[in-house]
Amino acid sequence: MTANSNITPNDLDAERPVTYGTEAFLSADYAKAEKELLWPRVWQMAGREEDIPNVGDYFTYDICDDSIIIVRTAADKIKAFYNVCAHRGRQLIDVPADQNGVRGNTRNFICGFHGWTYDIDGRNSYILDEDDWHGALNTECTSLTPLRVDTWGGFIYIDQREEEAETLAEYLGDAGRILSHFEFEKMRYKWRQYCVYPANWKTAIEAFMEPYHTTATHHQLTAFAEFYAYSKQYGLHSVSGFDQRKSAEATSQGGSVSRAGKGADPRISTYELAYENYTTINYSASTDTLIAAAARLKDELPEGSSIADVMSHWMTSAKADDAARGVIWPDIPAEVMAEAGLAWTLFPNQNILQGVTFALCYRSRPHPTDVDQCIFEAYALERYPEGEEPDTEWVLAAPTEEKWGKVLAQDFANMKWVHKGMKSRGFKGALPNPHQEQKIINAHRNLAEFMGRGAPTLLR
Ligand code: FES
Ligand SMILES: [Fe+2]
Repeated sequence: MTANSNITPNDLDAERPVTYGTEAFLSADYAKAEKELLWPRVWQMAGREEDIPNVGDYFTYDICDDSIIIVRTAADKIKAFYNVCAHRGRQLIDVPADQNGVRGNTRNFICGFHGWTYDIDGRNSYILDEDDWHGALNTECTSLTPLRVDTWGGFIYIDQREEEAETLAEYLGDAGRILSHFEFEKMRYKWRQYCVYPANWKTAIEAFMEPYHTTATHHQLTAFAEFYAYSKQYGLHSVSGFDQRKSAEATSQGGSVSRAGKGADPRISTYELAYENYTTINYSASTDTLIAAAARLKDELPEGSSIADVMSHWMTSAKADDAARGVIWPDIPAEVMAEAGLAWTLFPNQNILQGVTFALCYRSRPHPTDVDQCIFEAYALERYPEGEEPDTEWVLAAPTEEKWGKVLAQDFANMKWVHKGMKSRGFKGALPNPHQEQKIINAHRNLAEFMGRGAPTLLR
């Protein structure tokens, strides 16, 4: 199969059923090809600006066989270099295997092997016995190798392409335009955890790309809401949101995580759904302010209040509570909120479930040598009053309920069995839901464009 036979965005918009095989998840050859055809040809989210607030602050980002140094070289300037010494190729900064990158502050990067030294702009500033080369060394061959870097929403992206490729803004396209309203750059990490998980990186990230699994996997949540969802391609990227099976089903008010829930009294169901989500998704996908305001709905609103009144009162009072402590909500037009839905996947591996003052995010990366493993990360962002941002680091956490909360543990409990199940001789290829799992179909459509193989085909 070649990319020529790929399905089109029109096929997705028409919600035409498709299937695709398992090679992208299981083949070591495919994983090796990704190192050439996928990762070096996309903008990759490497980290957050908040990790390097001061000049000389740096962190490392590893992808496949590359390690990359991202360093702040001026108040308004960030640079990225391959983490490798120009002399004989020692990795410049050691990144211990049990650490999700290293952070530090420095004026120089000094190679541990023979002491060649680089300033934070990547220029070589010291070579032991340089005269031995009889003047043959120049700035170009002795400097660190730079790569493109840009920022959006407080995220730092790198691009390994050597030729002039599209800008980050062009790459993000409509997804960037819509999500910019949420001002992620004003949010900070609330918590961040990672693990090395026994499934391919795509199996892992796809477990967080559709709410279709919620009813069966997170069955306890169905007491509080319906989880019927739509999903929609936006070129490289995709969105999903809550939907209604039929117009008579009036409980799913809105496509985002802040909604009324199910029950006779929306003053109570709104709170119960928000509280259940918040406490079982490891205190993410909402905020203390929103939960406290939801808890007061039954006291502040009369019996018989409509869902629309409850939602509007909830948002107005939470917004006022936040303003009183110095957290000013962005003004997001209603049509942008509607288009933004619940959650986005930015190709290839960045998931964002967004709210006005929070975001729950996921990223997965391939294990450098094992197609059956990945580095999986989840983190919560939130807007804080200035000076009250928590100080966080990446925490290596076993994929258990104790470390990640009930809901993520339920997701972890599927992912490795999906990966194992796809190896079965009895598995005939995926049958993704064209309406609810379109994000996943779109991911495979886009993957096939980069990889030249594995394109989804129409089911007849
Ligand atoms: S490899 Fe870095 S100084 Fe020799
Ligand atoms: Fe889930």
